[in-house]
Amino acid sequence: MIKIDPWSSEKIDDYNKLVDEFGLSKIDKLLNKFPNPHNYHKRGIIFGHRDYEQILDSIKQNKRYVALSGFVPSGDPHLGHKMVMDQLIWHQRNGGEVFASIADMEALGARDISLKEGREIGKSYFLSLIALGLEEEDSYFYYQSREYDLRDLSFELSENVNIGKLNSIYGFDEEKNLGHLYSTIVQSGDILYPQLEKFGGPCPIVVPAGTDQDPHIRLVRDLASSMRRFRVEEDENKLLIRSKRANEDEIEGLKQKILKNNEKVEAKIFAEHLEVTGSNKETLKEIIRDFEVNRGGYGFYQPSSTYHRFMSGLKGGKMSSSVEGSYISLTEEPESAKNKVMKAKTGGRTSIEEQKQEGGKPKDCAVYELLYFHLIDEEDHIQEIHSSCKKGERLCGECKKEAAELLENFLINHQEKREKAKQKLEQYLE
Ligand code: TRP
Ligand code: SF4
Repeated sequence: MIKIDPWSSEKIDDYNKLVDEFGLSKIDKLLNKFPNPHNYHKRGIIFGHRDYEQILDSIKQNKRYVALSGFVPSGDPHLGHKMVMDQLIWHQRNGGEVFASIADMEALGARDISLKEGREIGKSYFLSLIALGLEEEDSYFYYQSREYDLRDLSFELSENVNIGKLNSIYGFDEEKNLGHLYSTIVQSGDILYPQLEKFGGPCPIVVPAGTDQDPHIRLVRDLASSMRRFRVEEDENKLLIRSKRANEDEIEGLKQKILKNNEKVEAKIFAEHLEVTGSNKETLKEIIRDFEVNRGGYGFYQPSSTYHRFMSGLKGGKMSSSVEGSYISLTEEPESAKNKVMKAKTGGRTSIEEQKQEGGKPKDCAVYELLYFHLIDEEDHIQEIHSSCKKGERLCGECKKEAAELLENFLINHQEKREKAKQKLEQYLE
């Protein structure tokens, strides 16, 4: 059975609230269906999802699916990006294809970084992805601004989004420039892009993300349905199929196709819709999707997502590049990272005596978090640190030293691999 560290379950209370508020599903109910859960799954670091079942099904049935993310090239890749990258790699190792986009259009629209500069900075994200273990096979790297089919798709998507909808999702103010607004549609484009025919057509997609990305996910899920030619509603044992643009001939054609596949079903055409009884709903949905694609439609699946917790900054609070000493970049000097850890905020007490008596508070400890999220894989070892801290048997100096060394080694190793990845990058970009 998968254990959830007490620390994570303590903190996860806030995340439970988030799950309710956002209408996400909790991932813990699915955990026993994971083939090879990652530490992020086992430790409750990934806590929520939308529609992740379809990804687990694809893994199990060996069906095509894609895991993807986009990276805004506005600074160095850091430990927060590593969390997303690790998850892309995990999915690749579990049968998925990986798409990685450099969101240079978003960097321009939202942060005023030129496209050219964005592409240059963007390379660094690719290097870390490769260094962390993403394989060339079954991966697709690109820059938004250079991907013409993506731009066509995005423009087509934009037809289905009006200002009212954008505002209700993002609450943009009057000052927002059009480039920023438009970059949200390009992100939707990123997420639907792997379902284009040139890549193999409709398939389940998963976007591993922090909860801050959920508005984008809601938008793209909405768009995926509004782009469908046929909308399928479930009603007890019936499926009601409505067509948006299709004419009568098309509805008749679909009916014939459904009957041909299974003579036992009943299919009736009503004024507004086609009603089908007595067939497996999933099979039926696939028939409809096929039919749509054969007629030049997209047949999009609604993308899935998972949500992970944010790491706190080494100074407490949010990890942020604007707080000195608060965050660790994947490209910084290992020595400097080490020093940041030695100066980090811990959950220790004000004096050694007090700590021995009362114990430390790993749940409020940035150093423990670093170990828990990134540096210690073995479950026994991390549990041991947790419990000896709480019992007052472990002092912060020991943890800091351990974390600083592990981090230093990780960075040295990662940066060596980044160097090697430079030679391979061209191949990934082909
Ligand atoms: N908006 C995302 C961010 O702020 C970046 C991004 C662009 C993205 N395209 C994407 C994320 C597609 C997930 C999927 O980091
Ligand atoms: Fe954090 Fe370790 Fe100190 Fe406990 S002993 S508060 S885990 S640094």
